[in-house]
Amino acid sequence: MSQQAHPHEAAEPETPHLDFAGTTPYEDYVRADLLTHLQHTLSDDPGEMVFLVTTQVMELWFTVLVHEWETAAKALRSDDVPTAIAALKRSVRELEALNASWTPLAGLTPAQFNSYRAALGEGSGFQSAMYRRLEFLLGEKSASMLVPHRGAHRAHAELEKALHEPSLYDEVLRLLARRGHAIPAEVLDRDVAQRHEPVAAVEQVWTEIYSGDQDGELVRLGEALTDVAELVWRWRNDHLVATRRAMGSKTGTGGSAGVAWLEKRARKNVFPELWTARSYV
Ligand code: HEM
Repeated sequence: MSQQAHPHEAAEPETPHLDFAGTTPYEDYVRADLLTHLQHTLSDDPGEMVFLVTTQVMELWFTVLVHEWETAAKALRSDDVPTAIAALKRSVRELEALNASWTPLAGLTPAQFNSYRAALGEGSGFQSAMYRRLEFLLGEKSASMLVPHRGAHRAHAELEKALHEPSLYDEVLRLLARRGHAIPAEVLDRDVAQRHEPVAAVEQVWTEIYSGDQDGELVRLGEALTDVAELVWRWRNDHLVATRRAMGSKTGTGGSAGVAWLEKRARKNVFPELWTARSYV
């Protein structure tokens, strides 16, 4: 075998460009300078930085998830199920990344958390407007969840719009009706600003779909939604366990009973009939 280098390999590889008239194209796109200077900690504790950044990272993932589920809802509205499934599948990977970001906070001890907890004052994730939009898209509507955001014009306006729009699940059920499934009129015409409550006839429709062609579009849609539901439930449970480790049964900075309140929230099933229908297939 010849030891001679290929002519293309002989030349030094090109190095990246160094000269830019203004800011770099990377900076213009990513806005990294802004993003990496938003970490204003409130205590001198060195452990607070990762608490703040994890919270910011989760806010960014919430933003991506809202984008994906709005994309899916819009696609369903125009009967484009493949586009909806593609967005839901992307969101499943993103939920896995979101959930993995619990790792740095999962083992906080009460003493570690206490080192900066008082500095948080009444601040709590409960006041996250993007999380609330995410829950609204899942069908967890509640007008009272707008109240904390009265003083923040943009967040309030976005939440109010989301409250009055059909959720992702509303769009799914409307699509099932257009495909000939017996979704009752009271579900189709419901006040979409109210939370979706489980309905026996919807459970029956999912039972029929899941008893049919396993490769069918609607089973694949159902399974993508079930993956989403499971991973949202996991986020809530990981949050619950991290909270229990970090503060036991103390009350929350947001004023709730803490773990007991979170346990109640985590018991809720996302897309409930997709879970209960399984008993009848
Ligand atoms: C280990 C650190 C954490 C603890 C001890 C903790 C504690 C709590 C508690 C006690 C609540 C109930 C409301 C209250 O009274 O404050 C709550 C709610 C919430 N937290 Fe956390 N949290 C932690 C980390 C995070 C992170 C990193 C996020 C990411 C954004 C987050 C997002 C939320 C959300 C969205 C709620 C509202 C849940 C709902 O409405 O069902 N939390 N948290």
